[in-house]
Amino acid sequence: MKRYEGKTALVTGGANGIGRATVRRLAAEGASLLVLDREKETAEEVAKEVGGRALVADVTDTAALDTVLRDVEADVLVANAGGTMASSHEMLTADLFRLEIDLNLEAAYRVTKAVLPSMITKGRGALVYIASVNGLFHVGNPGYSAAKAGLINLMRTLAVEYGPRGIRANCVSPGTIDTGNKSWARRRQRDPNIMATLTKWYPVGRVGRAEDIAAAVAFLAADEAGFVNGANLVVDGGLTAGIAPMIAELVVEDKPIPGGGA
Ligand SMILES: NC(=O)c1ccc[n+]([C@@H]2O[C@H](COP(=O)([O-])OP(=O)(O)OC[C@H]3O[C@@H](n4cnc5c(N)ncnc54)[C@H](O)[C@@H]3O)[C@@H](O)[C@H]2O)c1
Repeated sequence: MKRYEGKTALVTGGANGIGRATVRRLAAEGASLLVLDREKETAEEVAKEVGGRALVADVTDTAALDTVLRDVEADVLVANAGGTMASSHEMLTADLFRLEIDLNLEAAYRVTKAVLPSMITKGRGALVYIASVNGLFHVGNPGYSAAKAGLINLMRTLAVEYGPRGIRANCVSPGTIDTGNKSWARRRQRDPNIMATLTKWYPVGRVGRAEDIAAAVAFLAADEAGFVNGANLVVDGGLTAGIAPMIAELVVEDKPIPGGGA
């Protein structure tokens, strides 16, 4: 028995990157897929590949989003569409700030509102939000980080409010995932070896793959994770567990220091 047989999963931003890997993973485990994305052609291609349905809308366009989500029912929501435009506070205009909040936070709220009624009727459902390590500490992109921090706490409110009705809410917070998305493409232009450069920050010795996140989503949304509710599963190869390059600077002895000291 596959874990997702008989279940419908809606994945936003499902046409590329983490979303596409999640679509493929859930489909491989038996789910019927709704692939929501603003990229019509790619969304249709991915939906076709898994025998699912494409829903084409920009998640920041509230009218278009409401239209494609009208009457949509899902057992699983993966609110994944997101991204960032401004890497520093200086770069962050009021318009960009609003856009980053709309894309990374408000859209997740709206999609959740659309799928909740059918979940409430059935008395079960799983909500998974793709947040980021940016929601936990400062690693650039202030507007995006604020939105992701908000998303993590929005998830907690949902977990508490809807848990009693059989609906669980959780987040996955990825570290660097080499999806080739627009912000990574820009950084790659500046430093073609950006992923190798970043690897030193990752205790596991590599940056992440979209499939690493898809696996975490597939766990959180499955019935076997029935007692996992309100969790923020950090999938970052140990990045936020410590500051590896700083620790390397601190290690001066390969033997204990007699008498100790900080
Ligand atoms: N890649 C990383 O390093 C990384 C790290 C932490 C968190 N994340 C988060 O993971 C999620 C997916 O990121 P990714 O790297 O796979 O990105 P990606 O750019 O590869 O894919 C994002 C998908 O979302 C779609 N999308 C973007 N804006 C949209 C909009 N307004 N309306 C509808 N669809 C839209 C895109 O068309 C694309 O298909 C995002 O929420 C991102 O913040 C990514």
